[in-house]
Amino acid sequence: MAIGRAPGKVILFGEHAVVYGRPAIAVPVAEVQAEVMVEPGPYRQGILIHAHDLEESFYLDEVGDDHPIRRTVVNTLHRLRVGSPPDLTISIRSTIPIARGLGSGAAVATALIRALVHYFDEYLSSQEISDLTYETEILHHGNPSGIDNTVVAFGKPVYYVRGQKLEIFWVQRPFTLVIGDTGIPSSTREVVEDVRRAWERAPQQYDAWFDEIGRIAQEARWAIERGRIDELGALMDENHRLLQAIGVSCPALDALVQAARQGGALGAKLCGAGRGGNMVALVAEHTAGQVSMMLRLAGARNVILTTVR
Ligand code: PMV
Repeated sequence: MAIGRAPGKVILFGEHAVVYGRPAIAVPVAEVQAEVMVEPGPYRQGILIHAHDLEESFYLDEVGDDHPIRRTVVNTLHRLRVGSPPDLTISIRSTIPIARGLGSGAAVATALIRALVHYFDEYLSSQEISDLTYETEILHHGNPSGIDNTVVAFGKPVYYVRGQKLEIFWVQRPFTLVIGDTGIPSSTREVVEDVRRAWERAPQQYDAWFDEIGRIAQEARWAIERGRIDELGALMDENHRLLQAIGVSCPALDALVQAARQGGALGAKLCGAGRGGNMVALVAEHTAGQVSMMLRLAGARNVILTTVR
């Protein structure tokens, strides 16, 4: 038997602009995770999948080629040079809400790859696991920037620029985040496509907004590396205003962002694709409880507290 795990994630700065080559910062969220168990058998039956959260069980050859689980298993076995796979039972569980910007698709794929790697007693580097996860992300998102698979597979805060070597950076002073869920599912693929159409209509305007977002991500990295956490809140507020401008916020996200600020957060913004999903607030430790309460009063379905270190 073998087990693989992977954390959720939040994008702290730079979503959407990262698709257009600007830098972004994402951090893992260990409070939620995907867990995959691989066991031998049932014999002479093929590969059986139990997706517990979806309350689904199926054999791998019963689903289409473009099913994310099938694609992940096939790509991983190919990578590990397992020619004719043995009969296996694969159980998938995840506490990461689906389609809420917390990286559930990338985490399930990464956990599955890790479990298979352990099962076959092999080794793949974090970069190789990230690359395999990216192949699955393409099915979910169409044109993913690569930030989700990177932060989830490395499990560390990352400063990410599409097509460039990954930079894992130093967090000088730990800081606390409160993540609030609107309860509204959001399709990353649709929102990213909408932004693409808007960018095609007004490229200069959108490029200027993306440049601003990229500058904010750079400044945020500088502040995090120097332990100047007090500067991050204003940068998050500014990033949220730009995300509103490019058209990816929604009333529910704006309400939670506002509630977090009223509760004493140092700054807040939507995170991930937007139009639903989650928002993230930066808090001083003594205001974390108050901010969480304000988020719940404003309608948050779930609140997660995490520390970045
Ligand atoms: O909604 P999520 O967590 O999958 O975030 C998507 C982030 C985007 O920048 C909007 C898209 C991408 O591929 O980076």
